[in-house]
Amino acid sequence: MSTPKRILVTGSAGRIGRAAVAELVARGHDVVGFDVNPTPGLPPARSVVGSLTDATALREAARGCAAIVHLAATPDDAHYPRGNHGDNFLNELVPNNVVGPYQIMEAARELQIPRVILASTGQVIGGHLLSGNVPVTPESPYKPRYLYACTKVFLEALGQVYAKEHGLEVLAVRLGWCPRAGQEEEFRQSPFGPDVYLSPRDAGRFFAAAVGAPALPPFAVVYASSRFVTREMFDLTSARDLLNWEPRDQWQESKAEEF
Ligand SMILES: NC(=O)c1ccc[n+]([C@@H]2O[C@H](COP(=O)([O-])OP(=O)(O)OC[C@H]3O[C@@H](n4cnc5c(N)ncnc54)[C@H](O)[C@@H]3O)[C@@H](O)[C@H]2O)c1
Repeated sequence: MSTPKRILVTGSAGRIGRAAVAELVARGHDVVGFDVNPTPGLPPARSVVGSLTDATALREAARGCAAIVHLAATPDDAHYPRGNHGDNFLNELVPNNVVGPYQIMEAARELQIPRVILASTGQVIGGHLLSGNVPVTPESPYKPRYLYACTKVFLEALGQVYAKEHGLEVLAVRLGWCPRAGQEEEFRQSPFGPDVYLSPRDAGRFFAAAVGAPALPPFAVVYASSRFVTREMFDLTSARDLLNWEPRDQWQESKAEEF
């Protein structure tokens, strides 16, 4: 059990954010949620409703925190490849996934918050998953899927720069697939869904381990997924070694109601 700390969780009202908040609270941390929606499971005084693009509100929420778990984002492309539809790059991905992470890293730098955990995605190496060039490691070259994945490549690069230039500990985690409401069918039709599945409980335990790890390298990339079913897609060695974290769950169709 790590020492209780004050932790800012952005995107705390979302699918993974709620799981991270629940696990951090269960481990005794003083959790501050930050989301455009109220955060379930936190008292109103600890559930800040605001946008990442509001630098003042973000700094107020982050003041006094020992770490930031940064999950707030637009979590996927809309209508991509474009076809006859527009994309969501300028109206959603740029403010939430490009400007937002910049504001997070600036807040951490100014307020001297020593550790930032950034939610990246397996989509930054999505091309390897599709071609079967697996298991991917943190050293695998980028093969981003669409525009959302490009914003997460930026996120990782940003973390690397702030670690080097400003002495922060930054951990970028390429998360597996924790399906949101409405993604059930897409998940089932995916050729590798069960092998990249990330259960909410494993996600919560991952973020608690990342917050509690006594020391981290200045910058590292790790993968986080539950246990694969048929084929190893993500090499979890670096998460095991750095965080002493091990996934416990595995996708089971019979437990699909846990989606
Ligand atoms: N769920 C997955 O399978 C998965 C996989 C890989 C990576 N991720 C990443 O994990 C993180 C969480 O994803 P999720 O599935 O929980 O998504 P989600 O949509 O359920 O949660 C995202 C939350 O961020 C909030 N948010 C968005 N823009 C914001 C802003 N500008 N200011 C404040 N709050 C804002 C939303 O209100 C929402 O509650 C995201 O960064 C996503 O890219 C998710």
